[in-house]
Amino acid sequence: MDFKIAVLPGDGIGPEISKQGVDVMTAVCEKFGHNVTYKYALCGADAIDKVGNPFPQETFEICRDADAVLFSAVGDPKFDNDPTAKVRPEQGLLAMRKQLGLFANIRPVETFKCLIHKSPLRAELVEGADFICIRELTGGMYFGEKYQDDDKAYDTNAYTRPEIERILKVAYKYAMKRNKHLTVVDKANVLASSRLWRKIAQEMAPNYPEVNTDFMYVDNAAMRMIQEPTFFDVMVTENTFGDILTDEGSVISGSMGLLPSASTGESTPVFEPIHGSWPQAKGLNIANPLAQILSVAMLFEYFDCKEEGKLIREAVNASLDANVRTPEIQVEGAGKYGTKEVGEWIVNYIKNK
Ligand code: IPM
Ligand code: MN
Repeated sequence: MDFKIAVLPGDGIGPEISKQGVDVMTAVCEKFGHNVTYKYALCGADAIDKVGNPFPQETFEICRDADAVLFSAVGDPKFDNDPTAKVRPEQGLLAMRKQLGLFANIRPVETFKCLIHKSPLRAELVEGADFICIRELTGGMYFGEKYQDDDKAYDTNAYTRPEIERILKVAYKYAMKRNKHLTVVDKANVLASSRLWRKIAQEMAPNYPEVNTDFMYVDNAAMRMIQEPTFFDVMVTENTFGDILTDEGSVISGSMGLLPSASTGESTPVFEPIHGSWPQAKGLNIANPLAQILSVAMLFEYFDCKEEGKLIREAVNASLDANVRTPEIQVEGAGKYGTKEVGEWIVNYIKNK
């Protein structure tokens, strides 16, 4: 295959993990005889500093014309405590989602056996937890009508039928491929938008008789995720609920640095780690590159290159087993490895396989 990849390293630890992702992509392409080319583009605070826009038109065009986007992270603390800032790095991410029509965000929550002791949950609760959260990504409060003055402010949680139907279709597709259990998460006891979600899901459920569809209020789902994470197989929910629940889900595995995600929709799909830009760690070579590397696995799998994805997952597991790990998951007495060393180890594993 020919892969045209847009690479958006962004801010903070973004460039460091991006490099490891790209190197793994290159190694896998060499191994399997794919041709890969990269185009780098600006986004986030980096793009604000350089061209005054967190998602410049040129970046959009590079993404639009690529087969996939390998995204790292955006965000810079200099904007966080300034509520008057006119442009923010996060707007770049939202613009990218909207302009590329990335309405479906796929966030897997997996556990790694050798890291279970790092989970904030007791091992017996989290063992075997393996589910995916499908988060609607271009609607809801993030993009609904907003208002703010000094005395009043609101965000509108608007959803239309086509927006709900298309994300539920994605969720059913995943449920059919997995264990055929779909949990629709909403707040239908309070919110009109949720009642429409539930109504449409109830209409669609009979089209997927093999799938066991259940409904759960978001507060209950947040609780269930820590009480019994193995209950879930595929979860689908609206934008804001999905934002919150997937952060909760990401720590179950023991390190946020391990979970990748994919955003898909109308145009080029984007593959990125779930974690943010961790500005405090910038340049220190301590950030875990695994989520970024696993997002490359998701990229291959999206294009049905299953063996390629499998090899990356195997290499990642081998690095964990060999204790080639970044500091936050390293065991006492094992060697010291940084972002770069973990990435290089994985690249070598792939080359020698
Ligand atoms: C995420 C992030 C973003 C979101 C922010 C950075 C805008 O938290 O991808 O989950 O809220 O969607
Ligand atoms: Mn988030």
